[in-house]
Amino acid sequence: MENSNLSASELTASLTYGTWRFQKNWKPLHVVDAEGCYFIDASGKRYLDFSAQLMCVHLGYKNQAVTKAIEEQARKLPFIGPGFATDVRAELSKQLLEVLPKGLEKFFYATSGTEANEAAFKIARMYTGKTKIIARYHSYHGSTMGSIAATSDPRRWAMEPAGKIPGVIFAPEVHCYRCPIKHTYPDCGIACVEYVEHMIENESDVAAVILEPVVGTNGVLIPPKEYMPRLRQICDKHGVLLIADEVMTGWGRTGKWFAMDHWNVLPDILTTAKGITTAYMPLGLCATTKAIGDFFNDHYFSHGHTYEAHPLTLAPAIAAINEYKRLNLIDRANTIGEYLGKKLHALKAKHPSIGEVRGIGLFWAVELVKNQTTKEPFNTYKDKVSGIPLLVDKVAGEMMKNGVFIQAWVSHFVVAPPLIITEQEIDQGVQALDSALSIADAALSS
Ligand SMILES: Cc1ncc(COP(=O)(O)O)c(C=O)c1O
Repeated sequence: MENSNLSASELTASLTYGTWRFQKNWKPLHVVDAEGCYFIDASGKRYLDFSAQLMCVHLGYKNQAVTKAIEEQARKLPFIGPGFATDVRAELSKQLLEVLPKGLEKFFYATSGTEANEAAFKIARMYTGKTKIIARYHSYHGSTMGSIAATSDPRRWAMEPAGKIPGVIFAPEVHCYRCPIKHTYPDCGIACVEYVEHMIENESDVAAVILEPVVGTNGVLIPPKEYMPRLRQICDKHGVLLIADEVMTGWGRTGKWFAMDHWNVLPDILTTAKGITTAYMPLGLCATTKAIGDFFNDHYFSHGHTYEAHPLTLAPAIAAINEYKRLNLIDRANTIGEYLGKKLHALKAKHPSIGEVRGIGLFWAVELVKNQTTKEPFNTYKDKVSGIPLLVDKVAGEMMKNGVFIQAWVSHFVVAPPLIITEQEIDQGVQALDSALSIADAALSS
């Protein structure tokens, strides 16, 4: 068929790659407009965005302050190389000192969460002179060779043997609902973190531990309150850096500016992206302590990109931070998140296919199971990459028919709407989930 006769959806599917999927049968929805918490397809149908796309459009769509900042920067100085100073680079860096955990004082600007983590790994290796990185199972840190090596979900498997960068090793995830080492909190004495010390002691040469403070895509896994302070102690004792990957958890998502603020634990390196510009421009940030920054006064900083500190990516970050403050969205994530949590817990009481509902701030997971007692999931990681239709995708597809978009991953949903969502909009999203879950409930008995 002539390309000129194809629709935007058909051209997108035939000429471009769909990410993390089989290309066959990809029929991407043609989106033409968006406003507030809704996006709109070519037929004019509106969809409530119940997951802020990839948990990133924190301010919803068409925030005027952020779009204006991009427009103005494009007119003023659309690009200058990373070797120069700019007003936006100076201003954003000053503002970051105010909102980041105190003690993170030196910044490297990249263009994605992936790149922010790559920078973190290189900095950790250069600073410590050591090579190994401890990451955890059920984590995601990005798509390039280093960050995918530190990832432990099916997105890494095509790149096996794992550890394309030498020396990435995995610690158990914190998953109290499905403890990988079959313990029960609090009697476990947080054995999962104690095991990290065992790993460090038995591996020489560990440069850093990287973790998502609250694991995102792999299920909104919240550590017990003792976990992070104990991990900080272990890292300090062994001279290992702690890297907090706040790509998804940053910018109010968990009800604090950054998830590490919940435990008052300062990481040596914090990486973030997504909500930093409410996703309107691709910006990643790798923030380090002053001690790390000072180290490079006399050591060659062997890292960089053409687009480092790109002015068009920095201007919207300043505007987004101002909007988070003006609209009091960080605090609001707690109150509106509590409302969302109550509604989701009510669904659990009603649907036998829900195994657990868990969340913090405006960051929630609804996990489906075949059996609430055995906790057997409907699908596994292996199903995800084998092309086996997933039950969560069926439920999400039904919700789309009813005008609600939700992120489904293997056996759970991540409910993480824009921070500006209203109670009425939450009601709409929960209602769509409620009705679509009849598909999962029906699958229990079949
Ligand atoms: C925790 C975490 N780290 C890193 C990344 C990679 O970020 P990006 O997709 O911007 O490269 C993601 C993306 O979802 C993420 O959730």
